[in-house]
Amino acid sequence: MSMQVVGVIGAGVMGSGVAQNLAQTGHHVLLLDLSETILEKAKQEIQNNLRFQGFFKRETPSDNPEDVLARIKFTTDISVLREAEFAIENIVEKWTIKREVYTQIDAICPPSIIFAANTSAISITQIASATKRAPQVIGTHFMNPVPMKSMVEVIRGDRTSDETIAATKMLLTQMGKDCIVVNDAPGFVSNRVLMLTINEAIFLLQDRVASVEDVDRIFKTCFGHKMGPLETADLIGLDTILLSVEVLYESFNDSKYRPCPLLKQMVYAGKYGRKSGQGFYTYK
Ligand code: NAI
Repeated sequence: MSMQVVGVIGAGVMGSGVAQNLAQTGHHVLLLDLSETILEKAKQEIQNNLRFQGFFKRETPSDNPEDVLARIKFTTDISVLREAEFAIENIVEKWTIKREVYTQIDAICPPSIIFAANTSAISITQIASATKRAPQVIGTHFMNPVPMKSMVEVIRGDRTSDETIAATKMLLTQMGKDCIVVNDAPGFVSNRVLMLTINEAIFLLQDRVASVEDVDRIFKTCFGHKMGPLETADLIGLDTILLSVEVLYESFNDSKYRPCPLLKQMVYAGKYGRKSGQGFYTYK
């Protein structure tokens, strides 16, 4: 069975990437967000990415930008999710907001639909608790930018069923992705380490131990990382980093996850990284 209609909730950095990837691999996408303005921005973003798709040519049913865009329905109407066979949630990293959305979609969607949470740090078991379908709730932690990253960290919640894992793997294969399945814990494997690393790199900057460029150069030249932690933070979005670190702090009640004051200050100042044009680096 191949999955045809996929709901994508949230059309920000990740949601627009997931929608683009799905449409490029022949799926029909229902892309949902709160306002037409946000959806228009997502459409522009996808259009621009498709224009540059020659740089990351993929084997897809159709790479024609018009065909790809025609497979995405941009909507603010949550009830369209009834038509979906699978839903991938990509809204802000705040438990109270996610809980409300999961309660809503659980009431709207037929029992067969699987809910995949593209969260950075919130426990999948916790997310499943907002629904009456815990066996059909799973974590799909996509990497950014989604159309260019082939690996997905899949998280098995406490009650996630084997059937849900199998269906999710099948959809990811259709999207051209591979996956690594891990058990549930806040931050999973990737972000329990990465968020701590980024937060600590910001402490280094705050303590004036090294410049932005030198912190990143050490990771790139000494460890062979493609990007340093501060460049990575700008790519992810400092607002999302702060929310994720706060989730880890609250989940583990461990002071090692306390957010760096400089990170908080940059978020309050609207310096979110690439998406706002200013973070640790400046973007045009
Ligand atoms: P973002 O801030 O770019 O986008 C979030 C979107 O959710 C916004 O467009 C917002 O309007 C929308 N939204 C909020 N409430 C909504 C609702 N009730 N219904 C529909 N849409 C709603 O954030 P981003 O970066 O796309 O992150 C989304 C999720 O993906 C978060 O949970 C984040 O932790 C996770 N994530 C982020 C990664 C990254 O590199 N930025 C990587 C992997 C996961």
